[in-house]
Amino acid sequence: TPQAVIFDLDGVVTDTAHLHFLAWRQIAREIDIDIDEQINEQLKGISRMDSLERILRYGGAEQRFSQHQKQILAERKNTLYVESLKQLNPDSVLPGIAALLAELHGANIPVGLASVSLNAPRILDALGLTHQFDYCADANLIKRSKPDPEIFLAACAGLGVQPENCIGIEDAQAGIAAINASGMLSVGIGLQLQDADLRLPSTASLSWPLLQTVKRN
Ligand code: BG6
Ligand code: MG
Repeated sequence: TPQAVIFDLDGVVTDTAHLHFLAWRQIAREIDIDIDEQINEQLKGISRMDSLERILRYGGAEQRFSQHQKQILAERKNTLYVESLKQLNPDSVLPGIAALLAELHGANIPVGLASVSLNAPRILDALGLTHQFDYCADANLIKRSKPDPEIFLAACAGLGVQPENCIGIEDAQAGIAAINASGMLSVGIGLQLQDADLRLPSTASLSWPLLQTVKRN
């Protein structure tokens, strides 16, 4: 049986993936770039500055802004995003997540968080979930965003478990790649995700009995 379960936050615990998109879309519009949900898929799991770089590349504008201007754009995006986080409350936890956390605690399975978002602590707080996680990897200490396995390895180390014995849950293609590179077992939320050891249509399908059946692909 798995010895720990490590969750991604944005798009797995709550639907902030959409709020990130809305904030980026507004910033992109202001610099005459139109982004859609498809490019947003590539921003999931990617750090704030890496996301901006991708949007600029997508809009053919990678040379248009100085480092300082990029810093300002990224900060403005975050201001918009943080403002939108005010709508979060305990009802914003995605279906099946609270029940899974309760099952894991009942079974004494350590629970970790592996989010590269610098806003993760305030989001968990708004959801009322801070105390449900035994260890949250600190995005401030991570040098490389997903698909690098760094954040998942940090979560395993913090929980004191070997990656081979852990399950990671992700909604992003970069996140599945990060989990697989860490040696953990991967569970993908979204049937379009490639290379996950298990794929589910939504978080509502998650349960501890199901996670115990996951095998390496
Ligand atoms: C990840 C999201 O969890 O956090 C990305 O999937 C986001 O979309 C990244 O860019 C960084 O988040 P933040 O809150 O630090 O800008
Ligand atoms: Mg995510």
